[in-house]
Amino acid sequence: MSGRIARVARTVSVCGTLLTSLSGPAVLAADAGAGKSVFQSSCSICHSVQPGQNKIGPTLFGVVGRKTGAVPGYSYSPANEGANLTWDAATLDKYLESPKAVIPGTKMTYGGIKDPAKRADLIAYLATLK
Ligand code: HEC
Repeated sequence: MSGRIARVARTVSVCGTLLTSLSGPAVLAADAGAGKSVFQSSCSICHSVQPGQNKIGPTLFGVVGRKTGAVPGYSYSPANEGANLTWDAATLDKYLESPKAVIPGTKMTYGGIKDPAKRADLIAYLATLK
């Protein structure tokens, strides 16, 4: 996927006029289609997007707008369970950059995504899961 983004970026920079005719993923900011690819490569090993389906982590169906620790039947760490945050775009952005910075003691062993554009795409995708 990153290869594809790089190719698209090169294409766009070489032929700037093409930009207006390109409507595919990876060109616009906060692209849910590109975010789905980020999800599949970085999150799907531990998270399902189906309601009620918990894996190593809780399902992320409906995550945008819900409270921390709210998935029934999932055994959260006390840190995540008691974090008392709402998963809005701003909180998700901080968390996905550095999970341990937002929820110290989380059992989510994932380092985070440093690229803000990738996080924006991913959050746009998460917002479609409802
Ligand atoms: C190695 C497995 C793993 C990976 C990879 C992973 N997670 Fe998690 N995630 C977890 C676990 C485990 C928890 C529960 C944390 C706890 O209870 O402390 C969690 C919790 C979460 C929560 C809080 C859910 C809630 O209901 O409060 C969110 C949001 C989340 N993950 C998003 C993501 C996203 C988005 C990605 C991809 C960038 C990702 N995670 C990658 C294992 C993972």
